[in-house]
Amino acid sequence: MNEVLKAIYERRSVREYTDEPVPDELIMEILKSGSWAPSGLNNQPWRFAVVKDPQLKERFEPLTRYSRIIKSANCLIPVFISKERMYHEVKDHQAIGACLQNMLLSAYALGLGAVWLGEILKSGKEIRELLGLPEDLELMAVIALGWPKNRDQKSRRLPLEDLIVFKQ
Ligand SMILES: Cc1cc2nc3c(=O)[nH]c(=O)nc-3n(C[C@H](O)[C@H](O)[C@H](O)COP(=O)(O)O)c2cc1C
Repeated sequence: MNEVLKAIYERRSVREYTDEPVPDELIMEILKSGSWAPSGLNNQPWRFAVVKDPQLKERFEPLTRYSRIIKSANCLIPVFISKERMYHEVKDHQAIGACLQNMLLSAYALGLGAVWLGEILKSGKEIRELLGLPEDLELMAVIALGWPKNRDQKSRRLPLEDLIVFKQ
């Protein structure tokens, strides 16, 4: 199968990781792949943070019910939208989604495991302040990253027939 399609179909959310550190080059590759997502007017509204320091990472644990994932992850990548860069609310948020999906797919392509954490958005302000970042930046997601403990994650999708609302 074509490699891009294989990544799209075989990528799964990974929520348990080994203790092995993720090299910086791989983290940078993931950020780079996010930055190559499409965006309206090519305004590239995404901004990235990288949290590897165990003591700082630990401070994310009480901010979500998914503290177990945070604890296990080797690295966290909080992804923000720059409000100053925005020109159209819907389109800019769509661009961030494309960026996040690129990052998940590249993590998979590099043999890493990752999950998009959204529930943690309830603590967006606390996370921005914890990292000492300006109000311009609003948290959109945190990607938890590490080497997968296992690769047997399963997922399901609705049948395509249920999703197509018009086809002539
Ligand atoms: C917007 C969004 C928010 C999500 N939030 C969480 C989350 O807070 N915790 C979590 O464990 N998974 C989260 N996920 C991952 C989904 O649960 C997962 O993508 C979905 O169950 C499909 O599984 P798959 O990614 O393995 O195909 C989120 C995914 C998206 C797109």
